Amino acid sequence: MEKETRYRQVLEKASAMLHGETDSIAAMATISSLLAGEFPYYFWTGFYRMIDGGLVIGPYQGTPGCLRIALDRGVCGAAASSGETLIVDDVHDFPGHIACDSRSQSEIVVPVKDADGQVLAVLDVDSVEKASFDAVDQEGLEKIVALLMSVNDVD
Ligand code: SME
Repeated sequence: MEKETRYRQVLEKASAMLHGETDSIAAMATISSLLAGEFPYYFWTGFYRMIDGGLVIGPYQGTPGCLRIALDRGVCGAAASSGETLIVDDVHDFPGHIACDSRSQSEIVVPVKDADGQVLAVLDVDSVEKASFDAVDQEGLEKIVALLMSVNDVD
């Protein structure tokens, strides 16, 4: 099945499940689970939340993730600092990459921003294959993040 189709299915299911939902943790948990189910070859799907100037792990699916990430560390810290989606084809080439699991080979991180552009969280997806992520993933995940922002209390 094409990636576009998989992202469309995740978006449709998430839209239906999150309709009227106001709790961001419930929304993040649902999105993490739906992504894991639709993309079983992406072995880690989840969120880090911006708390007191650093990233703290939120709802996720996959092997244990590190609990906290400073903004000057890792792919997540870089994406949170820039406010832009970051695609890393080979994590071993990324200075300061944090290997929560040694199987991680490539990664995409999408910032979750409020209407003022302030980063509230990041959505992190890891793959065991190099160069797994492309513009299709970026578009699909950014649409899912936009849906998350429709949930009232992302903060
Ligand atoms: N690889 C991430 C850390 C989070 S674990 O992959 C879940 C990073 O370099 O920021």
